[in-house]
Amino acid sequence: MLAHPYGAGDTSWFVRERFGMFIHWGLYSLGARHEWLMAREKIPPAVYRQRYFPRFDPDLYDPNLWAAAAAGAGMKYMVVTAKHHEGFCLFDSAHTDYKATNSPAKRDLLRPMLDAFRSHGVRAGCYYSLLDWSHPDFIVDPHIGPYAHLSADERAKLNAGRDQRRYAAYMRNQVRELLTNYGDIDVLWFDFSYPKADGSGKGRADWESDQLIEMVRKLRPDIIVDDRLDIPGVGDIHTPEQFQPRQWYRHGGQKVVWEACQTLCWSWGYDRDDALLDRYRSSDELIRTLIDCVAKGGNLLLNIGPTGRGEIDARALSRLADIGTWMRRHGRSITGCTEAPADIPRPDGCALTWNPETRRLYVHVLSWPYRILHLPGLAGRVEYAQLLHDSSEVLMQGLEQWQERHNENAGIGRDVLSLKMPPNQPKDVIVPVIELFLKE
Ligand code: GLC
Repeated sequence: MLAHPYGAGDTSWFVRERFGMFIHWGLYSLGARHEWLMAREKIPPAVYRQRYFPRFDPDLYDPNLWAAAAAGAGMKYMVVTAKHHEGFCLFDSAHTDYKATNSPAKRDLLRPMLDAFRSHGVRAGCYYSLLDWSHPDFIVDPHIGPYAHLSADERAKLNAGRDQRRYAAYMRNQVRELLTNYGDIDVLWFDFSYPKADGSGKGRADWESDQLIEMVRKLRPDIIVDDRLDIPGVGDIHTPEQFQPRQWYRHGGQKVVWEACQTLCWSWGYDRDDALLDRYRSSDELIRTLIDCVAKGGNLLLNIGPTGRGEIDARALSRLADIGTWMRRHGRSITGCTEAPADIPRPDGCALTWNPETRRLYVHVLSWPYRILHLPGLAGRVEYAQLLHDSSEVLMQGLEQWQERHNENAGIGRDVLSLKMPPNQPKDVIVPVIELFLKE
């Protein structure tokens, strides 16, 4: 970990828990065609507000159901959009009238959510957008937002009277509210910076990121903050988005604490046509993604976009249920686990995770082998092997019968441990896992 001037959060729980739920919910859930619709369709913020704000009425919202779905899926923390780029706030902020309490919802939607998740044993975190396309002091820039396409002159007119300093103060005020009025917030997820060499983008100076992080650390020294404030070295977690790294994520050449954030379908906010077209990722893909994160020493923050009425749609629920079925039997290969030791090479068609405390190695069999599973680097190091989902013993092939005869010609050297696998992949297990108990 890189030391940085503003201190660091406590990531000890984070690297153990490994799996969280991201929630994107706001007025864009009504548009139901991506949370960037204001920018994508160049809708002036006032028009957007008039169209959606008076109609945001999540009458079916029951945060207990959301929390149960997350806990059931084996998720151990959550991060919810307290405010996204549109500027609307799910919480009852004293610094704006663009908030849930003034919508037909007529109540603070954040508080009961955080409470519900905590009561299900899921830690609570907030996403807070640095961008705010509706705030009257937010400087209109040529890169991002509903006015990015305008000419320099038109932008200059819109920017007359705007004061980015006042906007930065507004953000500090709101973040202070989140950190003082909503109980223990464990993660603060700022999003995002886009600095440009000529100063036309937005970053550290525009957000007054230094003051922001100083305040956050003073209020909650242990809180985990992400890496999007545009201050080099500030960020307890690194956050690759919409792709999987090929290795343990690095920063300045060093392995860092990291969390991939990924979507179930093609957008973060509820997207009706994603659901209609069934552009949802399969449960199989999602479970593999979780395994891939942990095998590379990282976390997965998996996103859901509830509907404007406050429900998690059926396809998302079915994915969460499948993940939960898998996690109930295989949570041991995820929670508390990390990348395997460097002297254990990755076997063909498998992903490895390792629990350093119990000294158990988990072989996730992504592609079922032909009778024998060859594990390089493990000969003589394993005491016992079993399939994790039903704790059925897996026999180790005797060295003498196997390796003496085939060995080098088949690429099976003396370092290889060969397991006698059942002839077919167990039918009811999405990704079977072999648990290996290593000798001291
Ligand atoms: C991007 C998008 C945003 C989403 C975020 C999640 O930065 O702006 O819509 O909330 O990714 O990581």
